[in-house]
Amino acid sequence: MKIDFLVKNCSELITLFGDSPKRGEDMNDLKIIKNGYIGSSGGRISFIGTEDMLKDYEVEENAKIIDAEGKVCMPGLVDSHTHLPFGGNRAEEFKMKLDGVPYMELQKRGMGIKSTVKATREISLKELISISQNRLDESVKGGATTIEAKSGYGLDLETEIKQLEAIRVLNEIHPVDIIPTYLGGHDVPPDTKKDDYLNKLINEYIPEIAKKGLAKYFDAFIEEGVYGKEETRLMLKAAKENGFELKLHADEFTNLGGAELAVEFGARSAEHLVRISEKGIEALSQSDTAAVILPGVFFFLREDKKPPIREMIEKGVIVSLGSDYNPGSSHINNMLFIAKLAVFLENFSMEEAITAATINSAYAIGMDKEVGSLMPGKKMDILIFDTPSYIDIFYEPSKNFLRYVIKEGEIILDGCKLTY
Ligand code: NIG
Ligand code: FE
Repeated sequence: MKIDFLVKNCSELITLFGDSPKRGEDMNDLKIIKNGYIGSSGGRISFIGTEDMLKDYEVEENAKIIDAEGKVCMPGLVDSHTHLPFGGNRAEEFKMKLDGVPYMELQKRGMGIKSTVKATREISLKELISISQNRLDESVKGGATTIEAKSGYGLDLETEIKQLEAIRVLNEIHPVDIIPTYLGGHDVPPDTKKDDYLNKLINEYIPEIAKKGLAKYFDAFIEEGVYGKEETRLMLKAAKENGFELKLHADEFTNLGGAELAVEFGARSAEHLVRISEKGIEALSQSDTAAVILPGVFFFLREDKKPPIREMIEKGVIVSLGSDYNPGSSHINNMLFIAKLAVFLENFSMEEAITAATINSAYAIGMDKEVGSLMPGKKMDILIFDTPSYIDIFYEPSKNFLRYVIKEGEIILDGCKLTY
């Protein structure tokens, strides 16, 4: 077996070995190889182990070699929930929120999602690609090598296609892998009757976007004042019939049985879950639907209610992490920061946060066979930190230890510099 890229002597090679998500106590087992070596060929991992095992492999003469002595190495992080391509900025609304106006109250006053819908409808495709490209660069600096990205700020066919088209182009021109989601059920468009929109969505938009093949997942927001359970059910049914896999913004500000609905439809994930019920936890724990936890929202909106993380993990729910990067409730797209918020604010252990942000997040976007852990055949997507133990990353949370980001066997971040 040949090796054209080799990282040798990692103080801790965090492998998370395996290509399926981890539940319960297994989330604490990072499967670390001390003084580990990892090599790849053509961007795929071809070797993982210790120095003595390397003798059966051929390291090519001009192979790129990194000596990671005294450095931790782990899989590239996966951001399983972002609203990457949007227009405009909601800084003024942010100030209002800090001055005491609740997030859902702003939505009621016609700000919130609706104001980003307006700005996203106005922006050109070219401009949308360009600003989203800069955002992706920031994701890389935060350790992400694969992300999910949602539309949902157009709510008309033309703009939703523009957002999904931006994601398609970015997937071609940017090293980060992006999994596209059509968030057609994000809100009711401005100046539109809900029933009229639902009709259009189900009979026109969902079939048309499915036909274009621009998104893998369909997503909706089940929430008081947005879509109720029966309305959400109609959308999910139509999306499923048109070949989409499903995701759901569920149990965020109120509990409308979102987690249970996601399980009923065999959704890949239920996201937010701050107000998930006992029944919802039970349903998730018995299913293959992942919970996507978004600590950035708790932090950014100064929430006081946390999702019941301990209970979810103890009951065996597949728990993953995302940034929820968006202009209203989490203007954060740094996954290392998110993993730290998970530990400091939401009761994850350090090991659970790493597992949730790698293999479990990969599962939440259907990429667990490709990324999220280090094993032969998977993409050579790795992070190398300038410190000997992963504990230091949390022990000194304000310090940036990230030294290299490697995507498919190419260095894309070297120190603070992007190299693509
Ligand atoms: O995931 N919850 C609904 N949607 C986004 C926020 C969107 C916005 O405020 O623009 C979320 O938090
Ligand atoms: Fe979201």
